[in-house]
Amino acid sequence: MNVETLYKISYGIYIISSNKGEMINGQVANTVFQITSDPATMAVSINKKNLTHDYISSSKAFAVSILNIDTPLNFIGQFGFKSGREINKFDGVKYKKGIIAVPVVLDNSVGYLECQVADQIDCATHTVFIGLIKDAVTLDSKIEPMTYAYYHFIKKGISPENAPTYIKKEK
Ligand SMILES: Cc1cc2nc3c(=O)[nH]c(=O)nc-3n(C[C@H](O)[C@H](O)[C@H](O)COP(=O)(O)O)c2cc1C
Repeated sequence: MNVETLYKISYGIYIISSNKGEMINGQVANTVFQITSDPATMAVSINKKNLTHDYISSSKAFAVSILNIDTPLNFIGQFGFKSGREINKFDGVKYKKGIIAVPVVLDNSVGYLECQVADQIDCATHTVFIGLIKDAVTLDSKIEPMTYAYYHFIKKGISPENAPTYIKKEK
């Protein structure tokens, strides 16, 4: 099996955020896709070890912030390589409480979706959360979203072990 074939699959780069009561957290994810438009439904694959997994399981809700092409690598690093168990990732980050009470990251975001978990699928290391979209907001139409290929090949970004697309030799 040539695992490099998997690199040819296209994604974007997103912040998935959620809450547990008053506590908030978020993480980077590339594994976001729309399932259907009727009813408008999204899916995201989240590692069971992540604090964000714990929060989505608790609140049954999450937000998806769509990152723009100029998002700094240190912003992606803060949400994608560190855990909310160690730091407050929202420190210094512009965000708001969404209509379904999830935290929504506004910095570097071209828009966001708020989703209520309708179902979930256990996939070994990860859970695929399926969310009904409760709100969708465009914040900036002038700048394009960042793609996963751009992150890898132009920004020279890598993916940590908890990312579904992690391949060992990247280390
Ligand atoms: C480019 C990139 C893509 C990622 N994609 C995913 C993903 O789709 N699913 C996932 O569970 N983790 C993904 N991660 C890893 C999480 O963002 C990372 O494990 C994070 O530290 C979890 O934080 P938390 O413990 O605060 O929830 C990705 C990281 C990066 C940098």
